[in-house]
Amino acid sequence: MTVKIFMCPPDYYFSIDYEINPWMKKGTACANNVAVKKWEELKRTIEKLGAEVVTMKPQPGLPDIVFTANAALIYRNKAVMSRFMFKERQPEEKLYAEFLQKQGFDVVLLPEGMPFEGAGDALFSGDTLYSGYIPRSNISSHTYIADLLNIRVLSLELSDKKFYHLDTCFCPLTDNYLIYYPEAFDKYGNKVIENNFAPEKRIIVNEEEALNFSCNAVNIDKSIIMNKTTDRLKKVLKDKGFDTYEIELGEFMKAGGSAKCLTLKLSE
Ligand code: ARG
Repeated sequence: MTVKIFMCPPDYYFSIDYEINPWMKKGTACANNVAVKKWEELKRTIEKLGAEVVTMKPQPGLPDIVFTANAALIYRNKAVMSRFMFKERQPEEKLYAEFLQKQGFDVVLLPEGMPFEGAGDALFSGDTLYSGYIPRSNISSHTYIADLLNIRVLSLELSDKKFYHLDTCFCPLTDNYLIYYPEAFDKYGNKVIENNFAPEKRIIVNEEEALNFSCNAVNIDKSIIMNKTTDRLKKVLKDKGFDTYEIELGEFMKAGGSAKCLTLKLSE
């Protein structure tokens, strides 16, 4: 089956107008033409790797809608919709729900007052869902989702404010590999990761790579797309059989996002 990926173009992505994560600095200008060019490069690269991209029309006044990873958690035919922590992104919820419903998903809403930010904070490795909490998702959403989908959920506390969504510091890959930044988790979270991923499957990034959002990668089979990274990491990935495709995504990092945040896998 072809991998299907959902993206939303940055037509109205011009500036940082609010601060809801430590990367955002109000008043920062974003070069819209560069953002559009880079977003298109990302889309083309995904398509070149054999995946299909479906897109939604963005709306003015919602710059973060480009980060479709936060639309929902997709599981089989269900889309468990996000409930954004901050009011600035809450108007996106309805638009994402309409889009995913049109794509044929059974749209599921979490109870009100239960923050959960979709695939930004919930990532599968095999049958286990790893879920981040505190900055943007509430831990009660994890138990709710475990019951709802009848799946095993392991919660990971995000303890460094810069890595405020799980997908900024944790990236499960094909064949049970994982790219991650241990410093973004507390001792207990590290134990959970170590107990569930074999040492040879764990690809640890250093601080420089973590700050370049190297964990925020799109993985299609044995290919990985990410923001500019280091030769060191590319070599480590190569040795494990992965090819890295780099795209300069600095314009999106101004909002605290990178390659993976700009995508949502609708099917594997
Ligand atoms: N400015 C956006 C926010 O703070 C960035 C979202 C990045 N998305 C992600 N999946 N990490 O909500």
